[in-house]
Amino acid sequence: MGKIVILTGAGISAESGIRTFRASDGLWEEHRIEDVASPDGFRRDPDLVYRFYNLRRQQLLSPEIEPNAAHLALARLERAYDGEVVVVTQNIDDLHDRAGHGESRLLHMHGELLKARCLLCDTIAEFRTDFDGQTPCPACGEAGGLRPHIVWFGEMPLYMDEIYHHLSGCDLFAAIGTSGNVYPAAGFVEAAAAHGARTVELNLEPSRVHSAFDEAHQGPATETVPRWVDALL
Ligand code: APR
Repeated sequence: MGKIVILTGAGISAESGIRTFRASDGLWEEHRIEDVASPDGFRRDPDLVYRFYNLRRQQLLSPEIEPNAAHLALARLERAYDGEVVVVTQNIDDLHDRAGHGESRLLHMHGELLKARCLLCDTIAEFRTDFDGQTPCPACGEAGGLRPHIVWFGEMPLYMDEIYHHLSGCDLFAAIGTSGNVYPAAGFVEAAAAHGARTVELNLEPSRVHSAFDEAHQGPATETVPRWVDALL
């Protein structure tokens, strides 16, 4: 059996109650994206940025937010499939993690909401509670160095070498719930196709890069993804 690489975006978590980025108002939870998701925004108003991610983290940990049928179907695919399955997610939520994936099989290329990075000692630590500029780093004990472990606009996504290595060896590439607006992720379909992989898009509507795919399934992820996984298995 061949290797499958799956890229996911905000659309896979939409039916779990987490809002996507590019809703019609162009705002991310009432904020301009550049204010809360860029190094400049953080420099200009760190308190706003800390508050923003503290609220997102509280929301993610509230009891009503759970993995949905699409996250669960991908975890089932990973368990039941004879070949290799790698999930690359642009999402900073932990819903794939909760659905159950082997650690090396799930790559959070845009970082994780439940982690903080210390700019003073480079430690990445799990954080399920609020933190800000006064919070001491759990590793070095110094305050003032913690920032959300999130890849902001203009910053380099994580695990890129590993991801391109997987793309160059995959037989099937699927993109689920992503609008195709943000590179490098939007270019993964081309990279996989260049190596001969079959490519599939599962999205509510055609994405910006839909014409690069061999096959498309339109609809809500909780319906299209379990059906697609059943067919693969
Ligand atoms: N099922 C499937 N697809 C859905 C659903 C759903 N229930 N709801 C929405 N979608 C689709 C939308 O049609 C859209 O094409 O999911 C896509 C979400 O697009 P974006 O909001 O742009 O999210 P994403 O592509 O993940 O954004 C990429 O942008 O701001 C940055 O770093 C951030 O990782 C993020 C990146």
